[in-house]
Amino acid sequence: MSAFDNPTIKTQHNHVSVREFSDRVITEDERIAILESARASSTSCFLQAVTIVRITDPEVRAKMAEYAGNQAQVKNAPEFWVFCADYHRDERVCEGEVDLGWTEQLLVGCTDSALMAQNVLTAAEALGMGGCFIGGIRTNIQAVHQLLKLPKNTFPVLGLTFGFPAVRNNIKPRLPVEILCCENEYREPTDEELAAYNDTLVKYYTERDPAHPLASWKAKLEPTLKRERRPFIKDFLNEQGWALK
Ligand SMILES: Cc1cc2nc3c(=O)[nH]c(=O)nc-3n(C[C@H](O)[C@H](O)[C@H](O)COP(=O)(O)O)c2cc1C
Repeated sequence: MSAFDNPTIKTQHNHVSVREFSDRVITEDERIAILESARASSTSCFLQAVTIVRITDPEVRAKMAEYAGNQAQVKNAPEFWVFCADYHRDERVCEGEVDLGWTEQLLVGCTDSALMAQNVLTAAEALGMGGCFIGGIRTNIQAVHQLLKLPKNTFPVLGLTFGFPAVRNNIKPRLPVEILCCENEYREPTDEELAAYNDTLVKYYTERDPAHPLASWKAKLEPTLKRERRPFIKDFLNEQGWALK
């Protein structure tokens, strides 16, 4: 059997973000199994520096949807979980005898949260569901922090909606392996390799939404990279005790 036929690998290769969900109910068995996949995640230095906040209250959902930039999926998805970097619990266990505020700890909190969130999405996808990460919660990070009553030395890194899909986009073409992965040292991709991927992306987006054909890969990147949408993040993190040194 080819490795490509492995069910886990097939699930990963078929990933697309799902933003519209059917009425099919997630069973308790499925939800708990997914939560156990979250628990099983690797964690730096065994700090377990993540807390998940599962949002079930429709009013809290509605506010989260608004704070995330009016994303309907946050309100409508069967499940919406927020992954928070969390040193508060470890600080408590250590009775305050800790040295927090290092930028490295911020990286650890983000890494652990992202790895756990991906484990959750992969578990959900393995059960036939789909989902979408929600970085949009950081657009109003202060309000989200307050709404979820998060203590100091925690912050919401990202959210995840999931459930059974009503609509699935075609798989979005990623960078080819020759560009993605180099050997032993960094390799600049050639102009030809970049141009070929540009053409692939233009074709994908134009077929997906013919009314709004994509001009170029550059046109996709520029709006995000030319203007930072969340310039307040550093001040917020500092206020919460992160990245002070
Ligand atoms: C950390 C992170 C945050 C994201 N935030 C959002 C979001 O707020 N809203 C959204 O619709 N998609 C969000 N996405 C989904 C990406 O847009 C999506 O993964 C990317 O365009 C690739 O498409 P695909 O997942 O369908 O292959 C996020 C993805 C990641 C990894």
